[in-house]
Amino acid sequence: MWYSSCKMDVTYSLLCVLFFRSVTVYAQNCVPTFQETEIGVEYDEKQATTLISGCLVGSKMTRKDIDLIISIKGQVIPSLNTGAISNVHHKFHLNIIHNEIDAIKKNAFRDLPRLYNISLEHNHLTSVEPYAFENLPSVKGIHLSNNNIDVIKKHTFVNLPKLTDIFINNNKLKEFDQNWFASTPALEWLALYDNQITSLTAAAFRDLRSLTTIAFNNNNLRYIDPEAFHGLNRLKELTLGGNELTSFEEVNLSHLSALYRLGIEHNKFTYSSPRFFNAVRDNMKELFIQGNPLQCACVDELVLWASNNGIELVWKCEGKEVYCLFPLSNENDCVKRPTEQFSSSLIESFRSVCPIA
Ligand SMILES: *[C@@H]1O[C@H](CO)[C@@H](O)[C@H](O)[C@H]1NC(C)=O
Ligand SMILES: *[C@@H]1O[C@H](CO)[C@@H](O)[C@H](O)[C@H]1NC(C)=O
Repeated sequence: MWYSSCKMDVTYSLLCVLFFRSVTVYAQNCVPTFQETEIGVEYDEKQATTLISGCLVGSKMTRKDIDLIISIKGQVIPSLNTGAISNVHHKFHLNIIHNEIDAIKKNAFRDLPRLYNISLEHNHLTSVEPYAFENLPSVKGIHLSNNNIDVIKKHTFVNLPKLTDIFINNNKLKEFDQNWFASTPALEWLALYDNQITSLTAAAFRDLRSLTTIAFNNNNLRYIDPEAFHGLNRLKELTLGGNELTSFEEVNLSHLSALYRLGIEHNKFTYSSPRFFNAVRDNMKELFIQGNPLQCACVDELVLWASNNGIELVWKCEGKEVYCLFPLSNENDCVKRPTEQFSSSLIESFRSVCPIA
């Protein structure tokens, strides 16, 4: 019932015969995922395709020293079931994009000791089951961008000792929870931009201390707990642009002793002061504040502070004349003010990506 075969017209058909053997031997661990699905195998610029039904199971007989790309593209696969890809002992990259997949089941990826990169971009994923990505000792990157994921459950990414990069951008997530991860001690890059996340809780990244880059731009962030960034003393880059933040001064930046680049552009705050950034002045090189309805007196203070500290400050949208606003009175003071102290039409003009002159 399950079989794999190679297309006879391919010069390298032998290649795939060697790589994959019949899955029936392992059938007890395989909930069928594929049905006459075309699988591409590439190495050293050689390519072959094979049709697989059931599960994709590697052969133990072949050389393990070659680096493969296994691709499944542009087909219709409703879900990646238990054992979908298993027992492949080569070093390989798995590329499963544009297949309309809407779920990944627990243990879909099993016994893949040298798998180093998984791309599942451009599918229709709405859910990923807990333990979907578990015990993959060599995986460095997981790419889930451009799906419809709205919830990730606790313990979805588990025991991934080499995982450094995870991309879940361009999905529909409404919250972030560090408990998605368990035993991922090497995680450096967390890309969650272009989602709908509304807040960050206290110590939101406490168990992910190896992070160096957090990208939360283009979400719906309205609230960041002052202690959200607790424990992130390796973080170099934090991007929070394109959110709904009406203030930023409560956020305790002292935790971010290694911060190099901070982006808080295109939010909604009218007040900011160099004082808030002094805590991270020593390592900071780039600060982005443009596209906020900031008081002109505050922008002036920040520009001076940045130039005195050798920090590159982006305070104005390219080609735009309007970059700050004057309050209705005492315009020379950079102080926190209620919104009534600004002309509402001016504030409104900052709602577009860059202020309209
Ligand atoms: C892993 O896959 C992603 C997405 O296809 C790609 O951008 C990235 O370069 C790959 N990384 C490696 C190390 O091959
Ligand atoms: C900010 O965090 C630091 C620790 O990095 C702590 O010492 C300080 O008290 C915190 N500031 C406030 C206002 O809680």
